[in-house]
Amino acid sequence: MNEEDKLFIIENINADTSKLLFKFHKDTNKRFLINQIGKRQKTKSKLPSLFENYNFTFPQNSKAIEQCSSEKSAEAKSNYFKGNNFLDLTGGLGIDTLFFSRNFENTYYNEKNITLYDLAKLNYPTFNLSNLSAADFIENNNTEFDLVYIDPDRRDDSNRKLYKLEDLQPNILEIILKLKSKEFLIKLSPIYEIKELDKYFDNYDVWLISIDNELKELLVHIKADAVRKIKLLIIKDGNINEFNYDFSDTKLDLENNIANYLYEPDVAVLKANLQDQIGKEFNLNKLNMNTHFYFSDVLNNEYPGNIYKVKSKLHYNKKEFKAQGIDSGIIKIRNFDDTLSNIKKKLSIKENNKQYLFFMKDYHDKNICVVCDKIIN
Ligand SMILES: C[S@@+](CC[C@H](N)C(=O)[O-])C[C@H]1O[C@@H](n2cnc3c(N)ncnc32)[C@H](O)[C@@H]1O
Repeated sequence: MNEEDKLFIIENINADTSKLLFKFHKDTNKRFLINQIGKRQKTKSKLPSLFENYNFTFPQNSKAIEQCSSEKSAEAKSNYFKGNNFLDLTGGLGIDTLFFSRNFENTYYNEKNITLYDLAKLNYPTFNLSNLSAADFIENNNTEFDLVYIDPDRRDDSNRKLYKLEDLQPNILEIILKLKSKEFLIKLSPIYEIKELDKYFDNYDVWLISIDNELKELLVHIKADAVRKIKLLIIKDGNINEFNYDFSDTKLDLENNIANYLYEPDVAVLKANLQDQIGKEFNLNKLNMNTHFYFSDVLNNEYPGNIYKVKSKLHYNKKEFKAQGIDSGIIKIRNFDDTLSNIKKKLSIKENNKQYLFFMKDYHDKNICVVCDKIIN
């Protein structure tokens, strides 16, 4: 992009792109620049540093943008590594590459797709760039890496989701055998079953990254001295908190006690199936085997999750809700016999953020609602 093009983007960075398109629809270059403005507007929260980086060129098509890691999670995982040679074998838009590159002397970006590779030439001129399939890269490579990062395609050419590790493109199982690297970090779909990983890997840890209670990434970290640990990187309001655990099947004993505070485990904790283990560590009590809400009279802000102040407990009964004036709130359901729409209909509840309504089964397997205020975000 020349200076005039950049100026056009800067001047119109917050403009309505459909109005701009209407005005400049006959001008091919302007249409390209308007597309760039639209991409910046759409990715402002996922890729904030690129919003005003006018030297960066986005792809015209959205697929690579949808597939790329967010800057926040790229930053969180990259902080754990440093060394000489880093390879991102499946570079894509290069967001992961960019963050890892800050901690390595030499960065290698490989991408099989020619359009993305051409963009990388514009966006990352200082990296060692290659446009090869993973198999060809391995064939031609003589470099020993400190870290190889792989974020394979999780959809096939017909856009169908791929679930089996051996189906992912490129084939990570072959790569880890053939490429020379001290460590590998492999990004998988967050829906992948953690228990399955034992079938494929020996020395590995599992990393889970959540942002504002949404599970974003599941990664496998392979290195010689890894001993099946779980690292949770829980990002809340932009702050990254790290928790490390062993795999655990701990189950908490049940107690019939709804105490002053309700503890809701973060999604990463639930994915790792560590909710009871962590509940034990924080001295929380649990009402029901399958109700993963926890209680305590003590407020402990170190907890990986959200904490709420309990206001009252109600039975699942319209009269009781009416008598107590509970007619709205944010509804949360876990291990309960009714659906969200039925709950709203039966109790005439409106959804707003006045308070929190936790629907669950209690110690006696009865459907109840615990009404709370939120304490920690
Ligand atoms: C999920 S994206 C990577 C996103 C990247 N981490 C980012 O932050 O932008 C996966 C990439 O793998 C590339 N890919 C797929 N099959 C490949 C293969 N056999 N060899 C090398 N790259 C491949 C795709 O072209 C795609 O760009």
